[in-house]
Amino acid sequence: MYLITGVAGFIGFHLARRLLNDNKKVIGIDNLNSYYSVKFKKERLKLLKKNKNFKFFKIDLSKKIHFKKLKKYYLNIDVIIHLAGQAGVRYSIKNPTTYILNNPYAYLNLLECFKKSEKLKLVLYASSSSVFGDILKKKNKNKPISVYAASKLSMEQISYVYSNMYKMKLVGMRFFTVYGPWGRPDMSLYKFTKKIMSNKKIDVFNFGDHYRSFTHVDDIVNNLIKLINKIKNHKSGLSRVVSIGNPKTVKLLKLIHYIEKYVGKKAKKNFLPLQKGDVRGTKAFIKKEIKDFNFKFNIEIEDGVRKFVKWFVDNKKQNEK
Ligand SMILES: NC(=O)c1ccc[n+]([C@@H]2O[C@H](COP(=O)([O-])OP(=O)(O)OC[C@H]3O[C@@H](n4cnc5c(N)ncnc54)[C@H](O)[C@@H]3O)[C@@H](O)[C@H]2O)c1
Repeated sequence: MYLITGVAGFIGFHLARRLLNDNKKVIGIDNLNSYYSVKFKKERLKLLKKNKNFKFFKIDLSKKIHFKKLKKYYLNIDVIIHLAGQAGVRYSIKNPTTYILNNPYAYLNLLECFKKSEKLKLVLYASSSSVFGDILKKKNKNKPISVYAASKLSMEQISYVYSNMYKMKLVGMRFFTVYGPWGRPDMSLYKFTKKIMSNKKIDVFNFGDHYRSFTHVDDIVNNLIKLINKIKNHKSGLSRVVSIGNPKTVKLLKLIHYIEKYVGKKAKKNFLPLQKGDVRGTKAFIKKEIKDFNFKFNIEIEDGVRKFVKWFVDNKKQNEK
C-alpha cells in the first residue's frame, strides 16, 4: 500500500491518480494549508475520491498527535512518497519559519513514526534543484541561497542519518521546475497564462534572462514509478539523491512566447531585476539517473504549454477565480 503525503498538492495529485489508475491502493494525507487556494486543492481531491482504492486523511505532519489517524493502516504501508511541504523560493524570504516547520521538522516526524516499521520498504521524499545554488556563480555553486533550499538540503542530511541509524531506505528527489495541468497557481506558467488571457501585465524577473529545466508532470510521474520499481527491493539502509528534471533548458522568454502563441494574445511585460533568493538558471544533469533508472523526458516544452493552456481554458471558470 502506498502512502502519499501532500496528496492534494500538484505532484501528489498526479502521482496518486496514476497509481490508482494502475489499480494500486493509496492512502493520501494533506493538511490543506492555504499557501494557495484551498478550493483548488479540494477540487483535486474530489477527482481522487472517485476511486474506491483511495483513502484521504487530513493530517498536519508538523503535529505528531495527528499521526494517530494512520494507526489502522500503519502495518500495510510499504512505500511512502513524501511530497508534503512548503514549496516556493520567493515566499521563503518573508516567511522562513514555515519552511523549517513543514520541511525538515515535518519530515523528521514522519521518519520517527515509521522508523521501526517492518513493512516499510522505501521512502521517497521531495527535495529540490534549488539545493544546487546559483550554478552560474562559482562561489554559490552547491550552496543554498534561500531558506527554501536550505530546508531541502537539511532533509537530505537527516536522511543520511536515519538510513544509517535505522537502516531505512530514503531517496531524495531533486525536482526541477515542474509544470502541467492542475499546476500550482503560484508558479510562472499558471500566473502568466491567467494574466495574458485577461490582458494584465506580467512581472518578468531578471529581465527575462532566466532559464529552467522545465519538466512536465507526466514525465515526473513516469520516472517516479520507474524509480520506485527499481529501488523498492534494493537492500535496506540506503540514502541517495536523484535529479528528476528535463535536461533541456528553456529560457523564460521562450516560455512566454509559447503561452502567447496558444492563448492567442501578446503579453504585456513588466521587466524587473533578479529577485533575492532566485537562481538565474537550473539545468538537470541526469547521466547517472538515465543509466541507473532509464529516466526519459518525452514532453517537449511547446507541447506541454499547449496542453496546459488547453486545460486552463477547459477549466476557465475555476481558473479565473
Ligand atoms: N512543483 C515544483 O516545481 C517543485 C520543484 C522542486 C521541488 N518541489 C517540491 O515537491 C513537493 C511537492 O510540490 P508541489 O508542487 O506538488 O507543491 P504543492 O504545494 O502543490 O503540494 C504540497 C502539499 O503539501 C501540503 N502540506 C504542506 N505542509 C504540510 C504539512 N505540514 N502536513 C501535511 N501536508 C502539508 C500542502 O497543503 C500541499 O497540498 C514540495 O515539497 C516541493 O517543495 C516542487
